[in-house]
Amino acid sequence: MSTTAPATGTAIGAPLDRIDGPQKVTGTAPYAYEHRSDNPLYLYPLHSDVARGRVARIDAGDAEALPGVIAIISHQNAPTLADARDRELSILQSDEISFRGQYIGAVIAETFEIARHAASLVGVFYDEEPHDAAFSPDRDDLYTPDRLNAGFPTDTEEGDVDEAFSSAAVTLDETYSTPLEHNNPMEPHTTVAVWEAGDLTLYESTQGAHTTRRTIARLFGLDRDRVRVVALHVGGGFGSKGLPHANTVLAVMAAQMVEGRPIKFALTRQQMFSCVGYRTPTVQRVRLGADESGRLTATSHEVVEQTAKIKEFAEQTAYATRTMYATETRRTTHRLAALDVSVPSWMRAPGEAPGMYALESAMDEMAIKCNLDPIEFRILNEPEDDAETGLPYSSRNLVACLREGAERFGWEGRDPTPRDRREGRWLVGTGVASGMYPVFRMPGSKARITCEENGSYVVEIGATDIGTGTWTALTQIAADALEVSVEDIDLRIGDTDLPSASVAGGSSGITAWGSTIFGAARAFRGRHGHNPAAGDTAEAGMPDNPDTENYAMHAFGAYFAEARVDEDTGEVRVPRMTGVFAVGNVINAKTARSQFIGGMTMGLGMALHEKSLVDPRFGHVVNHDFAEYHIPTNADVGEMDVAWVDEHDPHVNPIGSKGIGEIGICGSPAAIANAVYHATGIRVRDLPITPDKLLR
Ligand code: MOS
Repeated sequence: MSTTAPATGTAIGAPLDRIDGPQKVTGTAPYAYEHRSDNPLYLYPLHSDVARGRVARIDAGDAEALPGVIAIISHQNAPTLADARDRELSILQSDEISFRGQYIGAVIAETFEIARHAASLVGVFYDEEPHDAAFSPDRDDLYTPDRLNAGFPTDTEEGDVDEAFSSAAVTLDETYSTPLEHNNPMEPHTTVAVWEAGDLTLYESTQGAHTTRRTIARLFGLDRDRVRVVALHVGGGFGSKGLPHANTVLAVMAAQMVEGRPIKFALTRQQMFSCVGYRTPTVQRVRLGADESGRLTATSHEVVEQTAKIKEFAEQTAYATRTMYATETRRTTHRLAALDVSVPSWMRAPGEAPGMYALESAMDEMAIKCNLDPIEFRILNEPEDDAETGLPYSSRNLVACLREGAERFGWEGRDPTPRDRREGRWLVGTGVASGMYPVFRMPGSKARITCEENGSYVVEIGATDIGTGTWTALTQIAADALEVSVEDIDLRIGDTDLPSASVAGGSSGITAWGSTIFGAARAFRGRHGHNPAAGDTAEAGMPDNPDTENYAMHAFGAYFAEARVDEDTGEVRVPRMTGVFAVGNVINAKTARSQFIGGMTMGLGMALHEKSLVDPRFGHVVNHDFAEYHIPTNADVGEMDVAWVDEHDPHVNPIGSKGIGEIGICGSPAAIANAVYHATGIRVRDLPITPDKLLR
């Protein structure tokens, strides 16, 4: 279906086809690996086979003798970094090994095949030391981090939770767990690095060109203006490309060593399970107390999760619990186990996704204990203001989402009795959950607008489109901000030669870059009016938004799922899901719908399939490929019904939009888990819900 461009000033909201669509479907959109590079060399990494110790000796003779091998890199000859404080990134600076899979070197060769074969010929001898890679909530060395990811406080306490819990009419005390998971975007992490006369160019698969440049320049002691990062098209990230990882450092080291020739380095799928981040496993104890009417009097959410010894990552797992419901007393805590493992990082809705699985499963259990419909139970506990900040919500339409979703899904008349509906061998049930995702506002973006000879406008901002539709959505925003049609906008993104942009993370892109483009359009019109001359230009940063001090800003969603469970085999099918979202103004109805479907599908994977199995004896992920780490495919995904409520939020940003990249996943796993309970009468409190957990 082709959608024609809307009239001037009405671009926002239109289901415009992707501007980059034709390039992508014809295979002409250059991804990082595909940039033309003259006479390139190929890098294949060497990973540690032990989880802790030292590299005693590297026997590279056979590899070096192979025709086509240019160099073997190890800690013995790698460049010394100017800033080695970040121990995830400061690779090859010593013989020390801190986790299994850590980069201990690389082969550079004329072809990928030679590099890979040569790597297999390198003999590495270790001084192995005992390691500790076993995550457990019962460890006696759990510690309290200073802050959580994104700067959130580690613990919160409102009122006397223990007292309220012990005197509550209805109580629930359950522990939920989620496994370690890996992001797995379709395009692997990739760098093409060219180091020439002190100038470094990176064609990089990243969620942030400017953020990558900042980190690499600091590590290698380069002036920022000597480093260029190009990220024109990116095949997904889900957070794993949000912060630079050691693969980029390794590629740059190689480029520095072979100065002049480009280095190409794309991770294999298996290598993506060792050093590009992952979602931490969690163990979450949730306690809820309510009065006779079902009003929450006590809410406690205590989380144990893991981090790496070499670098702390403290996921904000109980964050959503601080704002979801009204409760008289509340406690949220986070404790970490620091292990000899690679560093966990962002994965779509880090914190909210695993946290809301626990909270929203507990809410379902509690509704049953209170004899209330799970939707009515949630609505009964809807808060007035945001308890964490004491601020009013800029907009909060969770109730509207629940009501609209109930209507679309056909919730009315649902018999809450579990294990009551069957069709042949299939036990059938339905479930609901809520979700939230905060409106993040990342600083540091700038945009430039220039009038062209033909009267069109070049709009420049170093934003990245990681497959979400940013290119199209920002074009629509620019068209409306300049009051022209989308054909008159030539948007340029994905390059540090363009004005600085914040990372495509935390669902913040449109808020940050869209606001910035709005600010630049205002500056342009203010300076040049509505009849500018060719060459007229204006540049501006993200406008201040004083409302961020006055309101709590979050997106909300309601998620519904039908689950069918084979009574004999435990197989779970999810023939349909409904998601209704309150996300402010939707910029592009078509790409937004894709984002919601993608998020819900990832939630389906989290509910039923995804689990990275760590063997603590060796410290590595055993099922490190798509044969054994299953993500949903077409055959797993049923009907995805997506809608959003009209939400006008004048406070979030000039466009009135909230982020949509992550809200889709947040409540989906719990909705499915709750549906599985309704179908079977079995409450699975440990994701993923695999068949073994449903066979009695
Ligand atoms: Mo997203 S996990 O914030 O890159």
